[in-house]
Amino acid sequence: MSASFSIRPLRPSDARAYRDLRLEALQGSPEAFGSSYEEEAPLPLETIEARIPTSGPNAIFGAFAGEALVGMAGFAVYERVKARHKGVMWGVFVRPEWRKQRVGKALVRQVIDHASRHVIMIEAAVGLANESARRTYHGLGFTPYGVERKAIRIGDVFHDEELLYLDLPQAQGV
Ligand SMILES: CC(C)(COP(=O)(O)OP(=O)(O)OC[C@H]1O[C@@H](n2cnc3c(N)ncnc32)[C@H](O)[C@@H]1OP(=O)(O)O)[C@@H](O)C(=O)NCCC(=O)NCCS
Repeated sequence: MSASFSIRPLRPSDARAYRDLRLEALQGSPEAFGSSYEEEAPLPLETIEARIPTSGPNAIFGAFAGEALVGMAGFAVYERVKARHKGVMWGVFVRPEWRKQRVGKALVRQVIDHASRHVIMIEAAVGLANESARRTYHGLGFTPYGVERKAIRIGDVFHDEELLYLDLPQAQGV
């Protein structure tokens, strides 16, 4: 039986749940994120709340099982005029007990669907050793175009990242 969950954009009132999940992600999968638990844990709740977009093309999507936030995926458009046709998918995470139940793919699909109304290309970066995330992204059409060596440093260990893009059909007005 497939797990039951729904996906919607996060709202400022989700800030507490978002902070908890984000800190769980940074602590549990440090090599998967550019930010660190140490940098984000001290931030006040208002700062986290202000990071949840409420208008415009940027968004953070949450996967909910009932009321509980169990996964998330962010999308942001480059701000500069010459780069506004591109966006970045960031902060993809599914709580360990909810993995391998299609939540990750559903979140990335939601980002793709949303992004296709705003940009013509999505970029993403994923740890070269991160089989589950690479499989998720490749399976939805993301194409690798390079490797950033030593993209992430955790202590004395460096992690390379695969750089990916996904071309989107050009929407009207984009
Ligand atoms: C990457 C992640 C979001 C995937 O979430 P998920 O809900 O388990 O993914 P899904 O169930 O939708 O599975 C997506 C694909 O990955 C595959 N997959 C999932 N876990 C896997 C694993 N441990 N090893 C290999 N493949 C795996 C699935 O089989 C599926 O591929 P398929 O459609 O070809 O069968 C989740 O593992 C996670 O949160 N990891 C830690 C954080 C992270 O790495 N984030 C990405 C940062 S770039």
